[in-house]
This record gives sequence, C-alpha cells and structure tokens, in this order.
Amino acid sequence: MYDYDLLVVGSANADLVIGVERRPAAGETVLGSDLAVHPGGKGANQAVAAARLEARTALLARVGDDGHGRLLLDSLRASGVDTGGVLVGGAPTGVALITVDPSGDNSIVVSPGANGRLTPQDVRAAARLVRTSRVVSAQLEIPLETVVEVVRSLAPGSRFVLNPSPPRPLPAEVLAACDPLIVNEHEAKVILGGAEVGDDPGEWARLLLAAGPRSVVVTLGARGALVASAEGTGRIAPVRVDAVDTTGAGDSFTAALAWRLGGGASLAEAAAYAARVGAVAVTRRGAQESFPTAAEVEAL
Ligand code: RIB
Repeated sequence: MYDYDLLVVGSANADLVIGVERRPAAGETVLGSDLAVHPGGKGANQAVAAARLEARTALLARVGDDGHGRLLLDSLRASGVDTGGVLVGGAPTGVALITVDPSGDNSIVVSPGANGRLTPQDVRAAARLVRTSRVVSAQLEIPLETVVEVVRSLAPGSRFVLNPSPPRPLPAEVLAACDPLIVNEHEAKVILGGAEVGDDPGEWARLLLAAGPRSVVVTLGARGALVASAEGTGRIAPVRVDAVDTTGAGDSFTAALAWRLGGGASLAEAAAYAARVGAVAVTRRGAQESFPTAAEVEAL
C-alpha cells in the first residue's frame, strides 16, 4: 500500500567541520584542524540513516545548483535514498559551520540557503510522495509553514515524527500530529516555553505529552532516553561507547525510531533500537558517513 517506509521532509547542508581543542569565547580566535567538508543537514541525514538500515526512503528537500548540492545528491543516491523529491535551485545549498571538540561534542551554525526556500507549495506539489509514505518525518531547518503543510497533507493512517531542531514554539496542530515528538534537553525546554520547567526529564516528558503530541521521546545523551505516551512512560538505557563525533547521531536516532515504528515496533522497542544506531554513529566522524548498516547495529 505504501511506496516508502519513510519520507523525510527537511534540510540538506554541506557541513564544514573543524576540530578544535576548545571552542573560542566571544572575541577570541583559536586554531583548529584542517577543514573537512561532509554531506549533512538534519533532513538529508535522517534520509541517509534510514536508507542505510534498508528502509525504502525518499527525501523532499531543496539544494542549490552548486557543488555542495551535488555532494549531497551523490551521498543520498549512494545510500539508496529516492531523490526524486529533491528540488534544485533558488538559492545556494545550505551550509553548516561545525566545530567538534575532543569529547566529540559539537557547536553548529547553519546558513539555511536553499532550505529556507522549501515552501508549502513544494509540499503540495509533492502530494503523491507524502500520501504514499507510511511515516513522514520533519525537523525545523526548513520554514515552519512548510512543516505545517506537511501535517495537513498526511494520508489517513500515516505517522508523523518531528524533531523540532533548532527549536521554536510550535502551533497546536503540529504538536497534535506528532507521534512522537523527539526532543533533547534543550529542545524540550524551548518547546515548553522556558525557565519554570525544572530539571526533571520525566516532568518534561509529562508536560510535553500534555501539550498535545500522541507520544514523546526525550533523548538524554549518555543517560539514554525517556519515552512517554498514553500507555505510560519508560526509560531507555544508554549504550556505552567511546564518542569521537556526535554530529548527526540524533538524526540517525530519529530515522531509526521512525522506521521501526512504521514496522510495528512499540515506542520503547523502537527507541532502544534507535539508541544502538546512534551509539554506532558517535564512534565515527562526520554525519552521514557515520551511520551504520543494519548488520553493524546487530553486531554492536
Ligand atoms: O544534526 C546534525 C546536522 O545539523 C549537521 O549535519 C548540520 O548540517 C546541521 O544541520
């Protein structure tokens, strides 16, 4: 009935990555490693991660008619992503300036470029793609009104997964469609509207669920994750590995979770599998290059 296990609607960026001993403070200059250019962007990352797990995956995105756009299309196609929905032109390809420190943590500044030109009209024009996908996932490196249009275009019975990154307040109709809403600690606090929410992730999950999503996943990095739905809450144990680069690991978690949910797994089962996918990803450098195959996840 569905042509795709997962349709990702989202961003595609060229990641310009420099390793640093520590991040510079305001007004400071530090020296770093040689520059590495990787295919990235939260949307393209999710699509590549899912396809590498053998999900039938398509991407609706926009890149520029430039070298970075071709880098991204090559990576997507090499991973088996259907790129028929990747639009070309209108602005330069999005770029992410990324520093990675010795612990593997990163800081990212994104220039959206063509991602900012992915419009609600582009979603309407891709209606067939949206309606023939079992699960549709999105993030917030594209305009919010485009994500709203995705929600309005979903086929009855298909599932919507949102990682609101970078975070911003969400309209009720988007929150109500999320199954699940996937947030890290920072994103949870922004979606909940700031300071008075305390430091208990279980409380964030409860408050987020009360805001409208059908289910919620709170990722806690090395502390694992929490899942919450009308069926109850649960804790997902962390998978212990030595991290070298966390870039894109959250995207691979979301993709794996979305794919497993579409295959009938429970929220807790899907999150446990996704935690293993993310754990492999942090042991390798870059975003898309770091994502494991299903066999590599099994071997962990
Ligand atoms: O989530 C990681 C991604 O965030 C990077 O690949 C970068 O492009 C930014 O979008």
